[in-house]
Amino acid sequence: MRVIQVKDYEEMSEAAATLLFSRVKEASSLSLGLATGGTPEETYTRLAEKANKSNQSFSHVNTYNLDEYVGLAPEHPNSYRYYMDQHLFTKIDIPKEQTHLPNGTAVELRNECNRYERLIKRDGGIDVQLLGIGANGHIGFNEPGTPFNTGTHLVELTDETREANARYFSAKANVPTKAITMGIASIMEAKEIVLLVSGQSKAHAFAQLMDGEITEEFPASILNNHDNVTIIADEAAISLHASKHVL
Ligand code: PGA
Repeated sequence: MRVIQVKDYEEMSEAAATLLFSRVKEASSLSLGLATGGTPEETYTRLAEKANKSNQSFSHVNTYNLDEYVGLAPEHPNSYRYYMDQHLFTKIDIPKEQTHLPNGTAVELRNECNRYERLIKRDGGIDVQLLGIGANGHIGFNEPGTPFNTGTHLVELTDETREANARYFSAKANVPTKAITMGIASIMEAKEIVLLVSGQSKAHAFAQLMDGEITEEFPASILNNHDNVTIIADEAAISLHASKHVL
């Protein structure tokens, strides 16, 4: 794994947006895996700014988000579809039908998981997957203990994750209890992975990712087995690891 060390959230966002923008620019067709959460917000803002500044089209890009809450309609302000529309899709010229998320309101949720997994494979797999990391090492909504061989599946969110995401809802009780997420195997099939890590709250997770063993108890640890991972991490995130190593 290649680590790009940056000063802070702003620099991380700029570096990530620059990397993604160059992939969009260079490719004649691109499948982009996307993440939600606080970490990539500024990356999307800057990516859209770069596209608009240089008239870069996204008409050759298909996007596939990692996950979606179960029970939230696309127009619900806390759905990940809504997040993506707000932060990126409405700011660039990507056709809506080329932006894909699991459907959290599907009647048959397991069929929806299979459909989503098949869709990604049918379209040739993900070229570049953007990822965040949970303080507990989750990637997507793959919580500790998720088998490494899973495809897209239905998950029960842990209390810790619902707590962490409660800041976006009026009350923790309103955070959905289930989600659909790409699995660890789905994520590992991406040709390139870009992991963003920012802030003191992620310092333990970063140190464990770099120094810990590869275990299903810490889902992100599997990334050590992928041959094309770039981590963009800021000083606060790196602090615990850096205190033990000279980077
Ligand atoms: P965050 O979430 O970006 O809101 O910290 C990351 C994650 O849980 O994967």
